[in-house]
Amino acid sequence: MEILDGKLVAKNIIEEVKTEVANLKEKTGKVPGLTVVIVGEDPASQVYVSSKDKLANKVGIKSNLEILSENVSEAKLIEKIEELNRDTDVNGILVQLPLPAKFDTWKILSKLSPEKDVDCFLPESVGNIILNRAKIFPCTPSGIVKILDNYKIDIQGKNVIVLGRSFIVGKPIAAMLTNRSATVTICHSKTKDLKGHLKNADIIIAAIGIPGFIIDDMVKDGVILVDVGINRLDKKEEVLDMCSEKQIKLFDKKGYAITGDIHKTAFKKSSFYTPVPGGIGKMTVAVLMENTVHLFKEQNR
Ligand code: GUN
Repeated sequence: MEILDGKLVAKNIIEEVKTEVANLKEKTGKVPGLTVVIVGEDPASQVYVSSKDKLANKVGIKSNLEILSENVSEAKLIEKIEELNRDTDVNGILVQLPLPAKFDTWKILSKLSPEKDVDCFLPESVGNIILNRAKIFPCTPSGIVKILDNYKIDIQGKNVIVLGRSFIVGKPIAAMLTNRSATVTICHSKTKDLKGHLKNADIIIAAIGIPGFIIDDMVKDGVILVDVGINRLDKKEEVLDMCSEKQIKLFDKKGYAITGDIHKTAFKKSSFYTPVPGGIGKMTVAVLMENTVHLFKEQNR
């Protein structure tokens, strides 16, 4: 049971990005720019957005937060995106999801200029991923592959179960690992015999947002567990059942704990696992910085 330390691997990526931003500044007189658009006041989204902003500032990326009221009209939101598309100081645009329910997410995302699609969510970006022609990848899936590579975990030929079929994590990571010659199965809420699938997996990537969903009798000994879930628990009994000693201490201090989709009993059977917090979440924001630098270079060739 060895930890795949997202904090440590992310730190190395962050150091590299920082050096590269400084070099680009010296060479071009400019720095990469990232704008994050957030609509409404979803507390979890606010936390993510502020961590992106802080990290961008730390590595020297010019970060800009566009905070729009929940009541903003569709037309105004689209106008804002089009203004950012035209702004040459902005190299990457991220529209924080989920948008409030009244918006048609794909209508909004489709207004993004493809060359500023730092999330790699647009059809052209997704097509390039599937065709194995992409240069950058969506932040969370990219973070998963980078952490596995960092620990020299062989992907080729492995049976991988991806739990969850979102366009943010499940679908792109399945395509990326297929391109790395894994045998990938996407499971979801309608999958029959989920336990049978999970038991057969060499690697499980859990991205469903249900705290502690995967328990010990669903996995085989030596499995590699990648936990993408970031779930907030505020009931002490649940925290005691699902969380590690460290998280329980944090709960006593803060009144809530963050836990993933995988139960602590399952981690005990694993050869490697990513903790929550300190696993994939840290990788996601680090990759966002890398992607921003990539877009800057593409736009300044
Ligand atoms: N919400 C949760 N994860 C993500 C992400 O990677 N990108 C965006 N834009 N929104 C998210």
